[in-house]
Amino acid sequence: METHHTDYLILVNPFHKIPESYFDNLELVEMRGYDNELFRVEKEAAQQFRKLEKAASAKGIPILLSSAYRSVEKQLQIKEEFTAEYGADYAKRYVAEPGCSEHHTGLALDFVAKIRGKWLIENDEIIERASELQPVYDLLPQYGFILRYLKGKEKITGYPAEPWHIRYLGDPEIAAEITAQGITLEEYCERVSKS
Ligand code: DAL
Ligand code: ZN
Repeated sequence: METHHTDYLILVNPFHKIPESYFDNLELVEMRGYDNELFRVEKEAAQQFRKLEKAASAKGIPILLSSAYRSVEKQLQIKEEFTAEYGADYAKRYVAEPGCSEHHTGLALDFVAKIRGKWLIENDEIIERASELQPVYDLLPQYGFILRYLKGKEKITGYPAEPWHIRYLGDPEIAAEITAQGITLEEYCERVSKS
């Protein structure tokens, strides 16, 4: 019998829609985030995020989920909300087309962080103070996560830097390698396919 498992290295971006077959093996669990909101996260990613939360808190920066798994319908709703609130240009820059969001995988997580007693919630304030989140970024690889949308890689990923969006890769070694090289998941997948 063929064994099925989650493809932790799956690439979902403007050029790679999520394949329907991905959902056959996706196991989601519930997890509380900011404001006690209930999110769904891929099972192993959820376990690792809990460890990351503890480690970040121990470093003095509590973090909580602000977005996780999204259905295609949910992504459409977010696109419409962003368009209404910030305009079509902003929505196009920051919100993936429904079907092309990494959030469909359950492996992409957005987080908010508490810095010196204040939760940073809005995208703009997180962007402005991203350097203060470095202690959290330093913890990511050991739990199998990478920061997914890097400054200066907009042409490769299709998105501006998103200092709140992390991605679980299922393997701390791969996460560490990608982080150390300062590359994106797109570049990593390209290299692996050529080797
Ligand atoms: N903000 C990311 C790109 C998404 O909508 O999936
Ligand atoms: Zn995100």
